[in-house]
Amino acid sequence: MATCGIAAGAKNTFNALEKALKKKGMSDVKVSPVGCIGSCYCEPTIQVNIPGQAPAYYGYVDEAAAGIIVDSHFGEGEVPERNMLEIGFERADQEGSGKKRQKRIALRNCGSVDPQNIMDYIAYRGYEALGKVLEQKDPDSVLEIIKKSGLRGRGGGGYPTGYKWHATALQPAKEKYIICNADEGDPGAFMDRSILEGDPHSVLEAMAIGGYATGANQGIIYIRAEYPLAIERLKIAIAQAKELGLLGENIFGSGFDFSIELRLGAGAFVCGEETALIHSVEGERGEPTKKPPYPSVSGYKEKPTTVNNVETLANVPSIILNGADWFAGIGTEKSKGTKVFALVGKVNRVGLVEVPMGTTLREIIYDIGGGINNDKEFRAVQTGGPSGGVITVEHLDTPIDYDSLKEIGSMMGSGGMIVMDETDCMVNIAKFYLGFTQEESCGKCTPCRIGTKRMYEILDQITKGEGQFEDLEKLERLGNNIKLSALCGLGQTAPNPVLSTMKYFREEYERHVTDHKCDTGSCKGMRTYRIFEDKCIGCRACVKVCPVHCIKMVQKPAHRIDQTMCTKCGACFAVCKYEAIVVE
Ligand SMILES: Cc1cc2nc3c(=O)[nH]c(=O)nc-3n(C[C@H](O)[C@H](O)[C@H](O)COP(=O)(O)O)c2cc1C
Ligand code: SF4
Ligand code: SF4
Repeated sequence: MATCGIAAGAKNTFNALEKALKKKGMSDVKVSPVGCIGSCYCEPTIQVNIPGQAPAYYGYVDEAAAGIIVDSHFGEGEVPERNMLEIGFERADQEGSGKKRQKRIALRNCGSVDPQNIMDYIAYRGYEALGKVLEQKDPDSVLEIIKKSGLRGRGGGGYPTGYKWHATALQPAKEKYIICNADEGDPGAFMDRSILEGDPHSVLEAMAIGGYATGANQGIIYIRAEYPLAIERLKIAIAQAKELGLLGENIFGSGFDFSIELRLGAGAFVCGEETALIHSVEGERGEPTKKPPYPSVSGYKEKPTTVNNVETLANVPSIILNGADWFAGIGTEKSKGTKVFALVGKVNRVGLVEVPMGTTLREIIYDIGGGINNDKEFRAVQTGGPSGGVITVEHLDTPIDYDSLKEIGSMMGSGGMIVMDETDCMVNIAKFYLGFTQEESCGKCTPCRIGTKRMYEILDQITKGEGQFEDLEKLERLGNNIKLSALCGLGQTAPNPVLSTMKYFREEYERHVTDHKCDTGSCKGMRTYRIFEDKCIGCRACVKVCPVHCIKMVQKPAHRIDQTMCTKCGACFAVCKYEAIVVE
């Protein structure tokens, strides 16, 4: 049970399952709460395991369905079509078949282990990789394996993890740190939260391995306070690992000490940037500083510090157990392994997907995501959150990896993937992201503090129908200058959503400034509400809700809107039962 499942009612489902089993006298069937399996669109989900049989997955399991499933699985009864997702992979042509195209490494245990029970994790080979590493007593060989595997940072930058670890390992300092970056500030991204909620020990184990390889004895998990369930599960996991001697002093009797503590962040996007994060951990303002020096050389308390993303770390134990070649055999030439994406927006099956690098957007959106909802046309997909850009229909067959996304003007970022359909306005989308980054700017440097604000103001004018043609050139110039002159990654990437939408949807921007028209009707400021006098029966429903009293009777019974006063709030449109009000 992770946040998404609990929000959809998983706790009630859990209780109903226990009750139904008790009623049947089946006390030997164990009901275990596990993390998210990624199928957020059909939560609550359950998996039924019977030894010797393929696991069966069910979705949309409310309390009533829980009883029916217990009856059908352990006795008489028939499961409604809607609930049955998959039995093994037999129903490959049905809903849920997307699992076939996925490959789970970072999410391998999510949905299988009980995150609050370390024995479950151990049963899935948990802490075996740490044991192996400590037994071999060769930190350099760990660095070699991670380098050879080709693992790159999943937090956005894509820097090779093995080389980052090596840079810390080379430092002569005695005191070193490894920090897990669980800030996850990108709007629409929730993969790190799911890993921590569903499989916290993978991250703890990886941090200990990283600590051993780099010479650090202290780990810190920097996590945003808005993730209370992940925090709770991490606390439990750390306590259980300590109790079994898997964290703390002299782990596995090897002489290696490693402890982990949690630090809570207040949820500022810029605090995900590694230098700002380190300042925040130190109790200072979360402001970035110029690099170099990189944290690997001078980080927390000016000591060598490795900062790694949650998903990056979650891959590490599998690489140690299965070998560098196994991992390097998955993915593309320069982007190895898999990537977890948070697939959201106008797609039928929203959720977390983990696919080999090089999978195309078409496969992710159509085969796994089940296509665009309400039979609408695909328009674009936004990747990389506020640092990324949009990808259009012409790129649907591009194999997705770090470099291909950069080439087409977007980026991997942490893996947010927001699908948009024909009703989404690209200018409005760009304004949304720029609004986010300019609010989250720490204000330390002028290009970002003032530049993004000016860009936002121009976009705001355009979406209100008050933009000028010259504004487009200004936006581009400003955007390119900010990219070159801002101090940190936030400012350096903030113009990306604007520049990429301007590149691929230039006519849409032009139509906003020349015709003052938003064809999708998304730009509220450009809407005109009009009353059809021959349909209006004079019920006065609109008059009563209009906050600015701008609807007047023109002749009995018809009403008319004074356009000079209308704030375009849409209240009149929402209450008119006679379709007498139209939006143009
Ligand atoms: C504005 C900004 C926000 C960031 N937010 C995150 C974040 O939430 N999580 C994360 O892991 N990395 C984030 N990063 C990237 C980190 O600075 C850093 O590169 C990363 O944690 C390194 O880990 P990795 O090599 O495992 O990816 C952010 C970078 C910038 C510029
Ligand atoms: S680019 Fe923006 S977020 Fe980064 S230091 Fe400058 S003002 Fe702060
Ligand atoms: S859109 Fe709002 S302000 Fe305009 S006429 Fe309707 S209710 Fe009044």
